Amino acid sequence: MNVDGVPYRTIWLADDGETVEIIDQTKLPHAFDVAPLRTLEDAAQAIASMQVRGAPLIGGTAAYGMALAMKTNPSDDGIDHAYDTLYRTRPTAVNLRWALDEMRAALRNIAHDARRGAAYRKAAEICDDDVEISRGIGRHGLALIREIQKKRSPDEPVNVLTHCNAGWLATIDWGTATAPIYMAHDDGLPVHVWVDETRPRNQGASLTAFELGHHGVPHTVIADNVGGHLMQHGMVDLCIVGTDRTTAHGDVANKIGTYLKALAAHDNRVPFYVALPSTTIDWTIGDGVAEIPIEQRAGDEVSEIYGQTADGRLETVRIVPEGSPVANYAFDVTPARLVTGLITERGVCAASREGLASLFPEHAG
Ligand code: MRU
Repeated sequence: MNVDGVPYRTIWLADDGETVEIIDQTKLPHAFDVAPLRTLEDAAQAIASMQVRGAPLIGGTAAYGMALAMKTNPSDDGIDHAYDTLYRTRPTAVNLRWALDEMRAALRNIAHDARRGAAYRKAAEICDDDVEISRGIGRHGLALIREIQKKRSPDEPVNVLTHCNAGWLATIDWGTATAPIYMAHDDGLPVHVWVDETRPRNQGASLTAFELGHHGVPHTVIADNVGGHLMQHGMVDLCIVGTDRTTAHGDVANKIGTYLKALAAHDNRVPFYVALPSTTIDWTIGDGVAEIPIEQRAGDEVSEIYGQTADGRLETVRIVPEGSPVANYAFDVTPARLVTGLITERGVCAASREGLASLFPEHAG
């Protein structure tokens, strides 16, 4: 997508063909910095510190992390060490494991001196595929927005509420939850997005708002607790969120607070859709609440807040009294019964074992 008229993906290779470059998302929206990743450790640190984040981009970065590792240690031990180092960075997004499994399978049975080149090619393929997957999600989600718009006067916008950032910054391009929104906007359909700020790290306020603003999509940032009120007053037509891990039964783990929005949507009969690439489905588990590992992050993400002062300085300030304990659960699980439908690259289905099996029969059984 475009930033100041320049098309960007979230991860790419530098001109030397080896260094990986990323947009440092910890600096957005106040600074647009590109950061180089030269080693396996750089890639692992970028994921853990959330310079890159969002399930598909975590997977893409892990894939390039394996490629960076193959530059210095293309042995079997090198593959295992890179796999373990990257796997430990974040626990909830299953795309991480998926991408590492893909890379290991592509590298294991080839000669050591061919591994470096093969790893870069496979990482590029994973990223290119993700762009096409997001495009597919966009096309299927666009049909849902179009259906709602058809019942409106031509200028009346469809109001979409989204949580966290499941936009192009969370993927390689387009995004998952935002892909239908961008396509609707590009097709001339009037859309307006309610952007949950998404405490504690504010991915909505800082990243989703940044993206939508640069693409010219009308949006309004709201505090996390506002969505229920808007739904009670008919101001939300549908919710579209992303997911970090979807179970074979259709439960979804997404950024903390998603579950509360799903409850409010259910109570107010607002359709609640989850947009996901199939790489986010964990076919090995059924009960998301019991089985999906929920990341707990450092307390300072809750007790402190980062932003720009009136005179342009970037500062972190404390907002919790010294000595008050804090807890920082990064994700929650929304049970399938609260999800109206799953928007995938192959179409929209019910959030259920049968629904997913109808689109992905190769995993049924
Ligand atoms: O902690 P984050 O910022 O990595 O969490 C991201 C989300 O929760 C996204 O909604 C999810 O990864 C889907 S991204 C298309």
